[in-house]
Amino acid sequence: FFQRIGLCSTRSYGHTVKKYNSFGDLIQVLGTPGKKGTDLNPLQFDNPAELYVEDTGDIYIVDGDGGLNNRLFKLSQDFMILWLHGENGTGPTQFNIPHSVTVDSAGRVWVADRGNKRIQVFDKDTGEWLGAWDNCFTEEGPSSVRFTPDGKYLIVAQLNLSRLSFVAAPPVGSIGSCSVVSTLQLADQVLPHLLDVDRKTGAIYVAEIGARQVQKYVPLKSRFIPAFGE
Ligand SMILES: *[C@@H]1O[C@H](CO)[C@@H](O)[C@H](O)[C@H]1NC(C)=O
Ligand SMILES: *[C@@H]1O[C@H](CO)[C@@H](O)[C@H](O)[C@H]1NC(C)=O
Repeated sequence: FFQRIGLCSTRSYGHTVKKYNSFGDLIQVLGTPGKKGTDLNPLQFDNPAELYVEDTGDIYIVDGDGGLNNRLFKLSQDFMILWLHGENGTGPTQFNIPHSVTVDSAGRVWVADRGNKRIQVFDKDTGEWLGAWDNCFTEEGPSSVRFTPDGKYLIVAQLNLSRLSFVAAPPVGSIGSCSVVSTLQLADQVLPHLLDVDRKTGAIYVAEIGARQVQKYVPLKSRFIPAFGE
């Protein structure tokens, strides 16, 4: 039989973060469906753009896409705010349309600060600012960020350029400046908005708002990693 999952029974929607169990039952709503806001208690969002859930259950949210809020939160699995940055602007820790967030194995939080055409990096435990990359995305800000499973590359989507870039991840320590290793140019007007990576196979799934489809890309190992001894 087929079960319909994720269907909303109310007419109001948007501006929320929803948690579902693996059966598709809605078990938690943060924010007020249909109502944008700036509150911290209770939490109200304005077009939260994306989130990332760690294996520990900690949640990172970028809020977001609407312009009213320019915030990055870390929430515990029981939805307590552990730290946040919430200022609009161009300085360190400030955002202009933070659109995507991910965490690496070195404990660093990477945020696509789209309107500022840069990626900002934070310590996941303290929220301390570790650096920014602003030299790779001068043409258009990054819309989505995810690491390859080996942690060696950050995959960055640029919406209007219809492009995915593979950027070398810096070792633990200084963030340095970014260097694009390879690009995947999609067809014009495909408009990749957000992406995710299968941590087992390395497959990349891209949500494309221009083409109105999801495409799956399977990485060719030899393209990124010299095949010494193989
Ligand atoms: C945020 O700051 C940018 C410039 O840094 C400005 O263009 C934008 O209008 C500001 N947004 C809000 C909501 O104040
Ligand atoms: C993409 O292009 C549209 C239409 O010109 C524009 O409104 C939007 O701000 C652009 N988005 C980015 C991320 O540059």
